[in-house]
Amino acid sequence: MHSKPFDLISTEEDVTPFVLAAMQDTDNARLKEIVTALVKHLHAFIRETRPTEEEFEKGLKIVNSIGQASNDAHNEAVLYADILGLSTLIDLINNDGMQGETMSALLGPFYRGQAPKCGFGDSIVRSETPGPELILRGRVTDTDGQPIAGALLDVWQASPDGLYENQDTGQADHNLRGKFITDAKGRYEIHSVKPAGYPIPMDTPAGDLIRAQKRKPMRPAHVHFIVSAPKCKTLITQIFSDTEDALLNDVVFGAKQQISGNLVQREDGSFVCEYDFVLKPGIPTFPEPPIKGKAK
Ligand code: BEZ
Ligand code: FE
Repeated sequence: MHSKPFDLISTEEDVTPFVLAAMQDTDNARLKEIVTALVKHLHAFIRETRPTEEEFEKGLKIVNSIGQASNDAHNEAVLYADILGLSTLIDLINNDGMQGETMSALLGPFYRGQAPKCGFGDSIVRSETPGPELILRGRVTDTDGQPIAGALLDVWQASPDGLYENQDTGQADHNLRGKFITDAKGRYEIHSVKPAGYPIPMDTPAGDLIRAQKRKPMRPAHVHFIVSAPKCKTLITQIFSDTEDALLNDVVFGAKQQISGNLVQREDGSFVCEYDFVLKPGIPTFPEPPIKGKAK
């Protein structure tokens, strides 16, 4: 055995400071802050749970399987972050709704971008889709209540049988997706079908965890919006309409009171939902779509 010429790792306690010291020269200050905290928390998590080697291998397999389950039409990393509540935590840290603006909600894994442009009152139903008609209308305003003309609403939703068009070869390309512009009075109108709650994909690593936890896989019924305008912070949100039980048991923890819509049924069986979106001042940004294409 050597005498001790320098301090190599010899006990469990040595590992964390040794690893952190190896990262000291990171130039990018934010990268250094994030990776330092990540190492400290991951090491603390391992000390708390003391995984066996088999459990560690299983955990690494799950991480690999998340990547392997992802493709142009499916984003498993987003889904996994969502079911662990990470996405909602990030959302609330960055969008607290304290300036009177409409609250945000998860982008989710099914935003494709590139949706067709629509005129005022156009329908986003592009192939036969079951379910009662839904008319979504209202205004986009600033936090002083002034209408914003020319605001862009990028909208998407699942069909009433619970699938987004990218998951379903039976739906036309971009079915239930479209881009709308507000008129001179800040108004928008969209014709669609009443959304239904739906299970998130369960034939994936996220599904394996949900089954093991005996959780309900359901999302409450909702319509997604990205609302943007010059000099305003882009709003990524969802308008919900469902039972209390469905809202409380949202598998991705996305439902919020302030963005619950009121669907009013008309005599002909169709529904109307009036909802005004409020944007706060800021710099518009646009999310990168988590998926690019449609299932083949
Ligand atoms: C969605 O709203 O489309 C969604 C969000 C998170 C996970 C799964 C679906
Ligand atoms: Fe959704």
